[in-house]
Amino acid sequence: MSGERPQVWSRYWATGALHSCHGSFDQQYGGAFVSFWGHVAAELPLGARVLDLCTGSGALPRLFASLRREDGAWRCDGVDLAELPPPDRLGLADSRIHLHSSTSVEALPFDSACFDLVVSQYGLEYCDLALALSESLRVLRRHGRLALVLHHAESLPVRLARAEGSHIQDLLAADGLLDLAAGMQTLLMRARTPQGRMELDRDPAALALRNRFNAAQEQIEREIATSHCPDVLHEARQAIMQAFQEGPAGSARLQAYRQQLQDAQLRLSELVTHAVDEAKLSELEAQLHASGRNTQRALLHERGQLMAWSLLAG
Ligand SMILES: C[S@@+](CC[C@H](N)C(=O)[O-])C[C@H]1O[C@@H](n2cnc3c(N)ncnc32)[C@H](O)[C@@H]1O
Repeated sequence: MSGERPQVWSRYWATGALHSCHGSFDQQYGGAFVSFWGHVAAELPLGARVLDLCTGSGALPRLFASLRREDGAWRCDGVDLAELPPPDRLGLADSRIHLHSSTSVEALPFDSACFDLVVSQYGLEYCDLALALSESLRVLRRHGRLALVLHHAESLPVRLARAEGSHIQDLLAADGLLDLAAGMQTLLMRARTPQGRMELDRDPAALALRNRFNAAQEQIEREIATSHCPDVLHEARQAIMQAFQEGPAGSARLQAYRQQLQDAQLRLSELVTHAVDEAKLSELEAQLHASGRNTQRALLHERGQLMAWSLLAG
């Protein structure tokens, strides 16, 4: 696991994002997800205890709260490696929901056999699978169930993550658009006085930098025209223009945007690396069978696109 993972996700959840594909979907990932979790929630016994692994900003506890409104019907604990914002900032000020920041799935701080249901949505696959699974089974009651939604290696989110990751790599490359924009920001500061402008006009290095920046911008335009997911390129262009309009504060904005891209790069590359293929899912199922559980797998599609595996074990 990358040592930066907890900080990167902490910064992401601090933005107020409601789930990890913020920007592509609204409150939840989509109808197929809500329907899968709806069936899982409907089978919960009254007063059930639920544990959400890798809860992030609590997308699943929030969904369960909307599906099972009755007080006392259930209680949900959510754990995550990241530092999570306070519940009221996440719209989770609900006495039935308890989020645990800075908590690793591989070492759960709960007694054995205390949960009726352990769930995870795009989470468990990021962990050490053998450890995470044995911890999940330890805290599950004997007749408890495990319900997982896992990244599928050939799904839309994985394909988008690959494409966006490659755009970000180009933007952050040495002498890429971000480096050139930082250089241009320095030139813009020098151009704030008549004397500065005169000097710039006679500075061949400044002229060369302007030409390289313009060429990089044109390259981005071409990529935007041909890419099937140009969002990050549009966003980069806007962030740079905004920084240029902010005067001296523009350098800090560019620096903050660079950090944002570096964080996104780590999240996207981890998403691709940890996505589950047929062989990995079979391994997971074998581990569950070895512990005496039956499993049931399915594919989740949204608007005709493959989105994830679902796996039920009981
Ligand atoms: C893709 S997000 C999913 C969040 C949420 N389940 C959702 O559906 O929006 C993955 C989350 O897993 C957390 N995570 C990764 N490895 C972890 C670990 N070993 N223990 C606990 N949380 C972990 C990250 O901090 C991140 O918040």
